Amino acid sequence: MPLADFPLLRAARREPTDFTPVWLMRQAGRYLPEYRAMRERFGFLELCKNSDAAATVTVQPVDRLGVDAAILFADILLVLEPMGVGVEFAEREGPVIRRPVRSREDVRRLAPVDPLEATPFVFETVKIVRRALDGRVPLIGFAGAPFTVASYLIEGGASREYLETKLLMYREPDAWHALLGMLAGVTAKYLNGQIAAGAQAVQLFDSWVGVLSPDDYREFVLPHSRALIRALTPGAPVIHFGTGTAALLPLMKDAGGDVIGLDWRVNLDEAWARLGEDVAVQGNLDPAALLSTPARFGPRVRAILDRARGRPGHVFNLGHGVLPQTPVDHVIALVDMVHELSKR
Ligand code: CP3
Repeated sequence: MPLADFPLLRAARREPTDFTPVWLMRQAGRYLPEYRAMRERFGFLELCKNSDAAATVTVQPVDRLGVDAAILFADILLVLEPMGVGVEFAEREGPVIRRPVRSREDVRRLAPVDPLEATPFVFETVKIVRRALDGRVPLIGFAGAPFTVASYLIEGGASREYLETKLLMYREPDAWHALLGMLAGVTAKYLNGQIAAGAQAVQLFDSWVGVLSPDDYREFVLPHSRALIRALTPGAPVIHFGTGTAALLPLMKDAGGDVIGLDWRVNLDEAWARLGEDVAVQGNLDPAALLSTPARFGPRVRAILDRARGRPGHVFNLGHGVLPQTPVDHVIALVDMVHELSKR
C-alpha cells in the first residue's frame, strides 16, 4: 500500500478511511505470552537494546491482533540512561532512577547526550522493524514528553503527588526551564533519528502531565513541548498523548500535534468539540474494560464509535496502556469489533 494510504496516517490527516484504524498502547507487553517468553531470556533493558529481539517483540502484536499500526518496542526512559543517572527497571517496582535530579546543581551536572550516538540500538530496531513489516502497517516511533521524563528524573521513579517535581518547578524555575529545554532538545533529536530511520508517525507520551493546573501547564510545560514538536521533521504525524488532561486539552493542542490522545475520563465527542475539528483524536476505552468480557465491553466500544460518528480523524485506542492481566482473546475481540462496527 502506498505510504499515504495507510488508514492510521489518513486518519491522522483527518482524511476519510474505510474503517476506523485501531492500535493499542502497550500492545507489546506482559499480557502477551510471546512477550513473556522473550522476557524469560532477556532483562527489560537488555531487550530494548537488542535490536533483533526488540524488533521481534514490536511485530508480534501486529501478527497476533491485526492492529493497524506497530509501535516501536522501547521505553521513554532510554534517553535518560546515557545521562548517567542510574536508570534501572526493577522487577515489579517499575523504573528507578538511582541518582535523581533535585537541585540546580544536579541539573547542571547532567551529562549532555547526543541520542544519535547514545541510543543507536533504537534506530537500528526501527530499520529492522520496517523490513519485517514489509509495508503491512505503519510503524509508530515514540518518546516521553519533557514533563513526564523530568518527573521520573526528579522523583526517581513513579509518584502519586509529584511533590519533588513541583518543588523544583516552583522553587527553582530557572533550573526547571533549563532542564525541560535540555530534554526538549534531546528528545527532538531522538524522535528525528527514529523518523530518519523509518518511523512513519510518532507519539509523544506526556502520561503524567494531568497533575498540573492549566496555568502551570501553560507556564512550565507548553513552551518546551511546543519547541520539541516544532523541531520535528515534517511528514510524520505527531500524536500528543496524556492522561488526566481534561482541563489541559486545548493547551496541549496549542503545544502541537496532529492527533490529541484522550484518556477515558472524558467523553470523546465533548473533548473533540472543545479541541475543534481541525485536529484528530485518539482513544479512549478504559483499559480496565477489557478485563470484563467481549459481551460486556462491546457496548462501550460502540459508544465510543458513536461519539466519533465516523468523522474523519478518529484513531481508536485505549485511554492508556493494555493492563498486564488482560486476556489476549479480549484484545483480539476488541480489534475485530472496532473494524466490524466502524465499516463504512
Ligand atoms: O507496546 C508499546 O506500547 C511499546 C512499548 C512501550 C513500553 N513503554 C514498554 C514497556 C512504550 C510506548 C512505553 C512508554 C512508557 N514507558 C511510558 C508512557 C506510556 C504510559 O504507560 O504512560 C512510561 C510512563 C514508561 C515508563 C515505564 N516503563 C514504566 C512506568 C514501566 C513499569 C510499569 C509497567 O507497565 O511495567 C516501564 C516498563 C515497561 N515498558 C514494560 C514494557 C513492556 C514492562 C516491563 C517488563 O517487561 O517487565
